[in-house]
Amino acid sequence: MNVKAKIEEEVQQILNRPLILNRRFLDDEQLIRAEQVAVLEEIFNANVRDREIREISAHFAPILRGDHPVHLALWGKTGTGKTLTTIYFLNLLAEMCCERNVPIRHVQLNLSTPQPCFRALNDLACLLNACKRYRKGISLEELMGRIEGALAGYHGYLILFIDEVDNVRRDHDTFLAFLIRRLPQRIPAKLILIFASNRLNWMEHLDPRVQSFLKVYELIFDPYDAVDLQRILNIRVEKALRSGAARPGVIEKIAALSSRDHGDARKAVALLASSASLAEKAGSAITLQTVDQASERIEQDKYTTMIRTAPRQLQAALAAAINAFRAKTGATASTGEVYEAYQRFCRRAGLRPLAGRAFGDLLAELDMYAFLHARVQSRGRYGRTREIQLDLPEQLISKIYDTILLSLDVAK
Ligand SMILES: Nc1ncnc2c1ncn2[C@@H]1O[C@H](COP(=O)(O)OP(=O)(O)OP(=O)(O)O)[C@@H](O)[C@H]1O
Ligand SMILES: [Mg+2]
Repeated sequence: MNVKAKIEEEVQQILNRPLILNRRFLDDEQLIRAEQVAVLEEIFNANVRDREIREISAHFAPILRGDHPVHLALWGKTGTGKTLTTIYFLNLLAEMCCERNVPIRHVQLNLSTPQPCFRALNDLACLLNACKRYRKGISLEELMGRIEGALAGYHGYLILFIDEVDNVRRDHDTFLAFLIRRLPQRIPAKLILIFASNRLNWMEHLDPRVQSFLKVYELIFDPYDAVDLQRILNIRVEKALRSGAARPGVIEKIAALSSRDHGDARKAVALLASSASLAEKAGSAITLQTVDQASERIEQDKYTTMIRTAPRQLQAALAAAINAFRAKTGATASTGEVYEAYQRFCRRAGLRPLAGRAFGDLLAELDMYAFLHARVQSRGRYGRTREIQLDLPEQLISKIYDTILLSLDVAK
């Protein structure tokens, strides 16, 4: 069979037995926010963030009778639904206000990557139509002025949702001082800020002058438990997959694994998606084994990504440890043996080997990332040595090793 025929056969087979009918529900992170809300509308009707939604609603309810609630800070680990819940709530609130003729505007500033204050304020200015695009060469002061100018004529409620606020890295205090102290005094709107972050102690590092000004109600999003995750996943399965695609127990298993490890809905949905893809390729339903395979794969990808982006010396040290183990039969190797292997490997890779002590630091770092275990062993009067253990599965070790060779451009 030639290549073309092979590919056609494979593609046709997948098309004939689709398991995933609607990928959007397995990968909502790729959707733009407006679409995401639409896709998740139904999910929210079975909302599992009941307590959080209720608290947020109670916090904002006074708006409807003309009061001015204080700012809101949302804390919680990643994937606990802070962003999603808030966006959904704000859309509903806007509808309710509209019905009652309460003027309201809400804007989400999504600081998904670390950035300086200027960039964040610039994005905010764009969202408020105060400027069109990224402006270099104007001062922070001018930028702030433009934001104030754009809001000068608006007298209603203005809700600014500053998502992942800890990502403002340079001039953090300037950014918050502007939002918390200056802006409310200079615009006629009733400003309410919502901050979301996954760093609980984020506010402790604020400038005390800003802190004393900040009146805020704090709400913590707990990690999802297994029951919550089951509900979240069940709706995904129903929406995204062919009926009968998941064998009994599969959802429970994914939910149990995820709630035990992190309580992160994003990761739980990712595990479901990856199990579904594996099953689709194999032409079967999702079974408990598929889930195991998928979770192993995700785990392995974590290791290889980490080592691929690690410094070269660290890569060399791990490759050397692997070589040292392959050369022997025992379960442990001494630091000396690994160091010798390291010197050999450095020669192969054209790296300058570090001295023994610095090499010890590399091993400690690899230990910290759980690539290996280093245990200090006392050898009586011969001093102490570290015993190195490598207890990752063999298949993963090969994968890591190949990744390192590729990254350092070393021939096999
Ligand atoms: N209640 C829910 N129902 C369905 N899916 C959810 C729910 N909560 C979270 N998810 C899933 O988890 C993903 C992450 O949720 P969200 O972005 O709200 O988390 P977050 O708390 O803002 O996390 P981060 O701190 O990383 O920004 C969503 O895109 C969605 O796939
Ligand atoms: Mg978020």
